[in-house]
Amino acid sequence: MTTVRNPALAEAGHRKLAWVRARMPVVAALRRRYAQERPLAGQRVAMSLHLEAKTAILAELLREGGAEVAVTSSNPLSTQDDVAAALAELGVAVYAWRGATADEYDAFHHQVLDLEPTLVVDDGGELTARLHGPRQSLLPTVRGGAEETTTGLHRIRALARAGRLAYPVVAVNDARMKHLFDNRYGTGQSTWEAIMRHTNLVLAGAVVVVAGYGWCGRGVAQRARGLGARVVVTEVDPVRANEAVMDGFEVLPMLEAAVRGDFFVTATGNRDVITRQHFDRMHDGAILANAGHFDVEVDVRALKAGAVATVPGRTEAVVGYRWPTGATLWLLAEGRLVNLAAGDGHPAEIMDLSFALQARSLESLLQHPLPPGVHPVDPAVDRWVAETRLEVLGIRLDQLSPDQERYLAGN
Ligand code: NAI
Repeated sequence: MTTVRNPALAEAGHRKLAWVRARMPVVAALRRRYAQERPLAGQRVAMSLHLEAKTAILAELLREGGAEVAVTSSNPLSTQDDVAAALAELGVAVYAWRGATADEYDAFHHQVLDLEPTLVVDDGGELTARLHGPRQSLLPTVRGGAEETTTGLHRIRALARAGRLAYPVVAVNDARMKHLFDNRYGTGQSTWEAIMRHTNLVLAGAVVVVAGYGWCGRGVAQRARGLGARVVVTEVDPVRANEAVMDGFEVLPMLEAAVRGDFFVTATGNRDVITRQHFDRMHDGAILANAGHFDVEVDVRALKAGAVATVPGRTEAVVGYRWPTGATLWLLAEGRLVNLAAGDGHPAEIMDLSFALQARSLESLLQHPLPPGVHPVDPAVDRWVAETRLEVLGIRLDQLSPDQERYLAGN
């Protein structure tokens, strides 16, 4: 049983899958072992992740490891309908289509949970939230979960703090081989790829305002600089603001940056970062995009309510809002995370790392059961992913001598 927009799109989806499958060697190494060992045999895995090609490769891997798998998308705009159709053909239960309404989005999550999962993979905590709310009756069979992103961990840690988290969740986002690469280089590249694809504008010489200098913001700022932009960072954390300054960026409050920016990219994981008071100061033609998980960083509701007219942009992902000041402000992807809602997400080689961590973390949960709570990725798993990637690249390391090991241990 699946719900996809159009099964006839499967062929195009299979081409996308073939492209990324060939470029995810760490996952391929796992696939070879899974075919022999079937470490997930008997497991039922519920997944809510942006349903594009690399996610399909993770679903395929888990299925090859012996699990029954059901998938939906963690954002109503990030499903690629051709990929969803192809994945359904591969025997995964898919409940997703691009442009799902709020009701459809919720229903798809419930359909995935109807699998009665033993394992849960979230990107934003959507399945975990429902399992601790309307679907609590399913909790007894859940052995654990893994969370892909910063915002999902905020939500799941809040459940844990309230003493309500009923199963162990591995914080995949916090693994070194995840956030150092996915959040920084993945978001850095794919955010600009999506913005440029839809605006066809030059970054060289433009003023780019990046809100938040965390893992994602650092990547977005670095890549903008690499393309010749003059980058301004906004922050609320004094340490990160210092880091941005020493990395060579100008740091300003958003109220001041608002006047200057040609492009604005939010990457804070917070709400109301760009609001009415900032729209009031922006110049005509400013481009607004969000790279954070939820569509609350740019106050889209205020933008829509305050605009005197809307203007269609050059693609369906670009909408202009004529503000009472006379300026037209162009919002990308409805303020949803632009690299997935209006792009193809991170490069394959990046998701190779993140999804190898996901699969290995599920395996760990089965091999070494943990108490309810949020747990780090096993450092040995992080190391395995790092070593496997270097092996693929043909990069060798020096080894610590016994004397060096003793010295570092303080002996
Ligand atoms: P992080 O916690 O490393 O960084 C967030 C930064 O934003 C912090 O330095 C914080 O001080 C700052 N911040 C918070 N409120 C702010 C405000 N009002 N104004 C300015 N700065 C503010 O988080 P990370 O890993 O960079 O993630 C950021 C968001 O991006 C999260 O929602 C995460 O889930 C999402 N994400 C998106 C990806 C994508 O593909 N688009 C990939 C990975 C994460």
